[in-house]
Amino acid sequence: MHFDIALLGFGNVARALARLLDVKAATLRDDYDITFRVTGIATQSRGCAIDPDGLDLQAALRAVEAGERLETLHKGAPVSDTLAFIDACPADLIMEATWLNPQTGQPATDYVRAALKAGHHVVTANKGPVAFAYRELRALAAEQGVGFFFESTVMDGAPVLSVGREGLLATTILRIQGILNSTTNYILSALEQGTDFDEAVRQAQAIGVAEADPANDLEGWDATVKTVVLANVLMGADLRPADVDRTGIMGITVQDTQAALEADERIKLLCEVVNENGVVSASVRPARLPLSDPLSQVSKTSSAVTFKTDTLHSLTIVEGDTDPTTTAYGMLVDMINIARNRYHDS
Ligand SMILES: NC(=O)c1ccc[n+]([C@@H]2O[C@H](COP(=O)([O-])OP(=O)(O)OC[C@H]3O[C@@H](n4cnc5c(N)ncnc54)[C@H](OP(=O)(O)O)[C@@H]3O)[C@@H](O)[C@H]2O)c1
Repeated sequence: MHFDIALLGFGNVARALARLLDVKAATLRDDYDITFRVTGIATQSRGCAIDPDGLDLQAALRAVEAGERLETLHKGAPVSDTLAFIDACPADLIMEATWLNPQTGQPATDYVRAALKAGHHVVTANKGPVAFAYRELRALAAEQGVGFFFESTVMDGAPVLSVGREGLLATTILRIQGILNSTTNYILSALEQGTDFDEAVRQAQAIGVAEADPANDLEGWDATVKTVVLANVLMGADLRPADVDRTGIMGITVQDTQAALEADERIKLLCEVVNENGVVSASVRPARLPLSDPLSQVSKTSSAVTFKTDTLHSLTIVEGDTDPTTTAYGMLVDMINIARNRYHDS
């Protein structure tokens, strides 16, 4: 199968994807019979470039990393904005990795909707469209006969959603618990070591885990949006982030974490989705977990998810050492699944 690919966003994840596509090109061709070229890239502040014959990806990477704009690579009429880009770019597959507003899911939801409506397959790393419009977008993709995949929205490239989709068959998921936000998990680990809250935030920012404005992480928004993805995709719910009982980690002290440790427990920002008699509800809140719980052992920037089902008592997936390439890898797997027509099963 051949894909002409348009990239929405060319930040950390999309640039890692561009490099990974290059590294894996022979594997894609030889093992999966997939060839591709990137025919367009859209950004917010560096303009966009379309070339129906295929862009020079290395030149695009060099330009953006040198702080230059992409227009020098563009062929054809000027394109005014990202929606116009989706309309103009000749592509089979749109790979979306733009910015997320966790309170609205926009503008990415509009981009994914437009891409599906135009008959493109879509792969996104962006939680917003899935948390805010999963049912609508899934139905639209089915109507258009195209794939809509988003493995990287929860735990980066770790196969969490695909385990649910492909592995947890003929079973009822009763509960999902997760440690899904790196910034808060890093800070809670640092508090346990005696580092005070503000200094822990500064350290998380210094190593590039926390954003300059860490409010979305500290208040639990990022974890909440991921929790909604799990609830809606794997447990059939139709929740929105505002439906989640959400408490962040503000106000937790060194003393709180150390008192928990003395009781053989750890404080974690626990994401939880529960199915009680067919009613699915979700929460994100600091919780004391016994040290015997695998989730209590997930420290710093690692993340994990535990499934409890009517046939598997407890299945935990742990992911460590993530970076933009691990996220890009999830997108690459999604692309392979589209080539394998896996979306007809979902
Ligand atoms: N970083 C990770 O490891 C990770 C993990 C899982 C999921 N994700 C998700 O992946 C997405 C991208 O993350 P990232 O780390 O790559 O972010 P990033 O480095 O900030 O890059 C975002 C990119 O999107 C572009 N952009 C923003 N608004 C746009 C718009 N309206 N139209 C077109 N392009 C737009 C930006 O343009 P400019 O270059 O002009 O700013 C930038 O190129 C986010 O949704 C994030 O939540 C990231």
